Amino acid sequence: MSVVRYRGRELEVAAGETVLEALEAAGEAVPSSCRAGTCQTCTLRCLEGELPEAAQVGLSPAKRRLGYFLACACRPGGDLEVAPLDDADAVPATITGVERAGGDVLLVRLRPARPLAHEAGQFVSLIRDDGLARPYSLASLPGDEELVLHVRHYPDGQMSGWLAGAPIGASLTLRGPSGECFYIADDPARPLLLVGTGTGLAPLEGILRAALHQGHKGPITLIHGARTAEGLYRREALEALAAAHPNVEVIFSALAGDPEPGVVDTPIDRLALARAKAADRSTLRVYLCGDPGQVGALRRRLFIDGLALRSILADAFLPAAPRPAV
Ligand SMILES: Cc1cc2nc3c(=O)[nH]c(=O)nc-3n(C[C@H](O)[C@H](O)[C@H](O)COP(=O)(O)OP(=O)(O)OC[C@H]3O[C@@H](n4cnc5c(N)ncnc54)[C@H](O)[C@@H]3O)c2cc1C
Ligand code: FES
Repeated sequence: MSVVRYRGRELEVAAGETVLEALEAAGEAVPSSCRAGTCQTCTLRCLEGELPEAAQVGLSPAKRRLGYFLACACRPGGDLEVAPLDDADAVPATITGVERAGGDVLLVRLRPARPLAHEAGQFVSLIRDDGLARPYSLASLPGDEELVLHVRHYPDGQMSGWLAGAPIGASLTLRGPSGECFYIADDPARPLLLVGTGTGLAPLEGILRAALHQGHKGPITLIHGARTAEGLYRREALEALAAAHPNVEVIFSALAGDPEPGVVDTPIDRLALARAKAADRSTLRVYLCGDPGQVGALRRRLFIDGLALRSILADAFLPAAPRPAV
């Protein structure tokens, strides 16, 4: 058993229990979503004591140095003093627009109260005033006046269902940005392969626009997949980008439904593996976003096919895990 000091309280953490579970059992409200060490929504700060390595996996070196850690991944081996993130880590924002982008996808626009320093493709945690929190990827570019999210609307989804009917001007808090899945301007000739299903397009559109904004000259292929053509969205905007930039190719893939011009029925993993084989492996960088099963399987296949893991940047959209009953 370890002791965690939090906001002036001393709480016991049983062997095998996480800091998140112990704080929740004691009635403390800590934002969380995936509860699997991926979404960084449960980030806290350690002021004293030694964190287990697993508690900081996926955090940037700067955040690790400052003692940030993931409460859902922290099973302490000794006593800790921890604290919630302070106001400097939270940006108030208001909803400025919610529109249908096609299928069940909402384009949600947010205006942060102060500029959010981020890279296109990173994700933020949206925290509602009642504490409900979910991570969403950013499709907008740094410097854009508004932040743009692509949100799949689940009618019974707590956050997406609320966003679908949220009034203009509704307030939220943003935490982040987080994640390493963004454009890196280290070699403007590098081939880029961007692959995603559903709203996995959000970070990929951001990465594509950031690359073009920074004068990327190498070939860029974006593959967007959905079960049926109705699930593909932002087609006109992406086709216009491809028409304006000879180095950009956009492929839309739908497995079921009626054939539609401009949409192939080849599975996106086959398209991606073929494109990766044909590219210069020594410089190719692949971005994979969206459905966790698809992202994990394609990452493995690309690795087996000889692509170094450091050349694959991935964001798996893990759904929120239910909070266990206490
Ligand atoms: C790093 C990261 C980035 C993300 N970026 C995005 C993004 O850009 N756009 C986006 O739309 N989502 C994204 N997500 C997922 C998002 O955080 C939420 O999980 C999602 O919006 C559902 O939340 P909710 O509150 O609406 O639904 P919840 O209340 O959590 O779930 C309610 C019901 O919705 C259904 N549901 C929810 N998620 C799934 C799923 N994945 N598959 C099948 N059924 C499901 C289930 O029926 C579930 O019972 C991301 C997740 C992560 C970890
Ligand atoms: S990383 Fe802890 S809730 Fe997602």
